[in-house]
Amino acid sequence: MTVATDAGVVASSGSGHTWARLRADRGALAALVFLALLCCVALGADLIAPAHPSQLDVRRAFEGPSAEHLLGTDDLGRDVMSRMIYGARVSVRASLQVVIGALLIALPLGLVSGFFGGRIDNLLMRSMDALMSLPPLILALAIAGVLGPGLTNTMIAISIVLVPSFARLIRGQTLAVREEVFVEASISIGSPTGWILRRRILPNVASPLLVQASIALGTALIVEASLSYLGLGIQPPQPSWGSMLRRAYDDVFAGGWLLFIPGIAIAATVLAFNALGEGLRDALALGSGTLRHRGGGRLGLTGVRRSGPAPSPDEGEVVLDVRGLSVEFDSAAGPQRVVDDIGFSIRRGQTLGLVGESGSGKTTVGRCILRALDPTDGEIHFRVDGNIVDVARADHGQLKNLRRHMQLIFQDPYASLNPRMTVFDIVGEPLFVSMGMKDRAQRETRVRELLAQVGLNPQHLQRYPHAFSGGQRQRIGIARGLALNPRLIVADEPVSALDVSVQAQILNLLGQLQRDLGLTYLFIAHDLSVVRHICDRIAVMYVGRIVELAQTEELFRTPRHPYTRSLLDAAPVPDPSQPPGDFIEGEVADPGNPPPGCAFHPRCPFVQDRCRSQVPELRQLEGKRRVSCHRAEELDLA
Ligand SMILES: Nc1ncnc2c1ncn2[C@@H]1O[C@H](COP(=O)(O)OP(=O)(O)OP(=O)(O)O)[C@@H](O)[C@H]1O
Ligand code: SF4
Ligand SMILES: [Mg+2]
Repeated sequence: MTVATDAGVVASSGSGHTWARLRADRGALAALVFLALLCCVALGADLIAPAHPSQLDVRRAFEGPSAEHLLGTDDLGRDVMSRMIYGARVSVRASLQVVIGALLIALPLGLVSGFFGGRIDNLLMRSMDALMSLPPLILALAIAGVLGPGLTNTMIAISIVLVPSFARLIRGQTLAVREEVFVEASISIGSPTGWILRRRILPNVASPLLVQASIALGTALIVEASLSYLGLGIQPPQPSWGSMLRRAYDDVFAGGWLLFIPGIAIAATVLAFNALGEGLRDALALGSGTLRHRGGGRLGLTGVRRSGPAPSPDEGEVVLDVRGLSVEFDSAAGPQRVVDDIGFSIRRGQTLGLVGESGSGKTTVGRCILRALDPTDGEIHFRVDGNIVDVARADHGQLKNLRRHMQLIFQDPYASLNPRMTVFDIVGEPLFVSMGMKDRAQRETRVRELLAQVGLNPQHLQRYPHAFSGGQRQRIGIARGLALNPRLIVADEPVSALDVSVQAQILNLLGQLQRDLGLTYLFIAHDLSVVRHICDRIAVMYVGRIVELAQTEELFRTPRHPYTRSLLDAAPVPDPSQPPGDFIEGEVADPGNPPPGCAFHPRCPFVQDRCRSQVPELRQLEGKRRVSCHRAEELDLA
């Protein structure tokens, strides 16, 4: 099979850019070097420290800096430099352990809360709010007071203090990533929730978490120092910067300068953690390939070819039969019916176009068919393996099996691919998750086959999505959709984000794949010119209802509904010498509050009195055409 390919745009990897940006930020770089040195000092304390931190010599108490004691001695004549070095080990290790502990508690809380929402979210987040309403030091003091003094108890107390801010951040990020199309893509191929949380959501939450964690290290250091200062943290003779500060304060008149040494160390380290956090935030916000580019105009379509005769609409078995489908969403004003009593069927190897203006309910219908959304009413009969299953009522187990046979191609080729996954991972995910193809080599062979099938270079399987053009990304999305050998593909505006020439290539590819693989398509678009060359039949939707359903050529030749006529007039003209089409006047009606009678009547040039009060039924006219207009028979709209 030969298919057209389009040119690619290659960009460099995101992580390289992030590091380059971090290096360019002098403050962040200095902080990184300082913290790296501090870690080396803490790790190598046994080698570096000139003396043991507990080695006493009371005769030499409060000595100033000298060659023997570079930072002087404390009240018991111990070497301050050595105690600072060992104290760094305790303070840095405690901060790290505290932040890791807090993350371990906050991660599952935030992920579950953001992913599942609803009551779980409410319960968890209200508890976090309650904890956050208390000042951190007071809370830590209270917990440490209950648990008793000591390093371990101090660390537990500080971890609990840090949990709410981490959990809130993770929950917020999860909520945002949960809505991303590439997560919906993972759900649509039947990936288990745990897998999606670990492999799809977590990596996208990691960057902001890293920034927050670096800043939290500074907070943990301060709280640990404060608790130690108050006698609740590290116990003597073990040194920590906080306990040294406390001791120096007790002897402020004998050795006041001793206050400055741990004080400056704490301040400098906290500043360094904060500067690193800020630097990471700037570097990561611009890097990592998460930036979105939405491209493409929506012009008329040229160059789409349909080879071979169109199959008769009556040929072949019915793969999808939708009856009485309705969907209501809850809103402040009560339930809002956005899809109202829709019905259509599609035979094997055929394409039904679902066309209408923005907000008419097309995507909602597509999502119901894949059960990404539960319909309020209606039946969705899907023929699979010789059986007919009502998708609307399928249970979890049936759905898992069904999802292998129906796939979604998304509108936005930029949002639908996870920017952190290579092409191999994206296309191989359904093979691994839904087909259980664990062997990497076997998966690689299949991914290469799929890439070749959609006209992409199989050598590019280790590239990330940002290294491809819009058309190429859509091909990757199609390859992912084909991986499970589906019978039905719901293509939700698969070309509207692409340039006109690329649109034609993708439509040709979809047509070719349909012929080669016997695929059945529900093709959603808001532009009739896009669907003309790929659809056998077209259903025109207006405010949640089908207003006309006919064979494609019939519909173009003799539209019977005034709204279809308006859509045809509004369609872009491929020939620049032709005048542009008329635009439909007026705004599309609000589905939550549609006009009485025929919903199109405020915009219809043929409106009569009865149109304002009586809802027109979807009636069958000649052949298999169905129209919902009181005046369908009498109007000449050709
Ligand atoms: N989750 C939701 N909650 C509430 N209302 C929703 C939800 N999803 C969609 N809607 C509403 O349902 C109506 C139909 O939306 P839908 O996305 O199906 O339209 P569409 O025809 O696909 O539009 P477009 O061409 O812009 O993609 C819109 O009024 C939309 O605001
Ligand atoms: S029913 Fe009346 S208002 Fe509605 S499309 Fe037909 S003529 Fe126009
Ligand atoms: Mg849509």
